[in-house]
Amino acid sequence: MENKILEVESLKKYFPIKKGFFRRHVGEVKAVDDISFYVNQGETFGLVGESGCGKSTLGKGLLRAIEPSSGEVKFKNRHGQIVDVTTLDYKELRDIRRDMQMIFQDPYSSLNPRMTVLNIIGEPLICNGMAKGEGLKTRVKELMEIVGLNSRHLERYPHAFSGGQRQRIGIARALATNPKFIVCDEAVSALDVSIQAQIINLLEDLQKEFQLSYLFISHDLGVIEHISDRVGVMYVGKMVEMAKTETLFSTPKHPYTEALLSAKPVPNPRIKKERIILKGEVANPANPPTGCYFHPRCPYVKEICQVESPVLQEVSEGHHVACHFAKDLDLKGSVAI
Ligand SMILES: Nc1ncnc2c1ncn2[C@@H]1O[C@H](COP(=O)(O)OP(=O)(O)OP(=O)(O)O)[C@@H](O)[C@H]1O
Ligand code: SF4
Ligand SMILES: [Mg+2]
Repeated sequence: MENKILEVESLKKYFPIKKGFFRRHVGEVKAVDDISFYVNQGETFGLVGESGCGKSTLGKGLLRAIEPSSGEVKFKNRHGQIVDVTTLDYKELRDIRRDMQMIFQDPYSSLNPRMTVLNIIGEPLICNGMAKGEGLKTRVKELMEIVGLNSRHLERYPHAFSGGQRQRIGIARALATNPKFIVCDEAVSALDVSIQAQIINLLEDLQKEFQLSYLFISHDLGVIEHISDRVGVMYVGKMVEMAKTETLFSTPKHPYTEALLSAKPVPNPRIKKERIILKGEVANPANPPTGCYFHPRCPYVKEICQVESPVLQEVSEGHHVACHFAKDLDLKGSVAI
């Protein structure tokens, strides 16, 4: 794990489906199904995929905000030690949460409306016994200034702030314990485009200043392309492609990535794009198709795809793809602007 801060191996999260009066176990939703990937120190790993493909479950599973069913999450803590987050007891987990934090999608519902900004941002410091009294106030003021908020508004409640400012409060709270790694789950998706840009700039500045590593979850390909060093594409609980951002956007090797890229809006109206319309619905993770989960929608499907599940393989340095024909298909990337 020399340059890595996080290394995930075969992570699974299956939610049980229970039915009837006796709550009998009748199946499971394979929300995260055998995912392996890593995040380098100081980089942003972007995670993209359609709604319900398991992005949030994966992000929460890393911090054990959702308990994974199996797999390993190796993480380098602030002392440089590598720990498997999945095996930590309650006390150890509380301690590691100082190093791993999360920023949520909705700045309107993720902040407790009955708590002042001082208490919202200060809570992780109080819980970890890192500050109290005047020291707490000073640190919260410092954090507010770091994220561009007026520190005189310490005693205000969330409703007194705009959407962008609330997201800044969420970011200040996540930064409070000096973390090394932050999961940003759709952190800018609920904001207006101009505010989105400000928050993205802030996240980028903070990354440089505090050597942060991000797992940046979004369904917005434009945002993912802008902010990520490497990108992973998920489809029905599985990672289907992973590569450096430029490689993934210019030379995708998975038909699902090609389809996603073809739907990405282009700001220049003179550039004509051929959009790939996928047939059928996203597969149901409680009852996925046989073989390659993408086969009922794939324009390049062949017989083997219906019976054999493709494994994620390295097709060129750092470029991993789960498709039987990754090396043969000539797929279109996103149009250069
Ligand atoms: N607590 C839960 N119990 C049962 N099923 C769940 C639970 N949480 C999520 N799921 C299911 O797991 C799958 C993945 O959900 P998840 O929220 O991780 O997707 P997502 O990619 O984050 O979607 P979105 O883009 O809409 O946020 C979905 O089919 C969802 O219905
Ligand atoms: S394995 Fe077959 S169905 Fe799946 S993405 Fe590749 S070509 Fe399409
Ligand atoms: Mg989600």
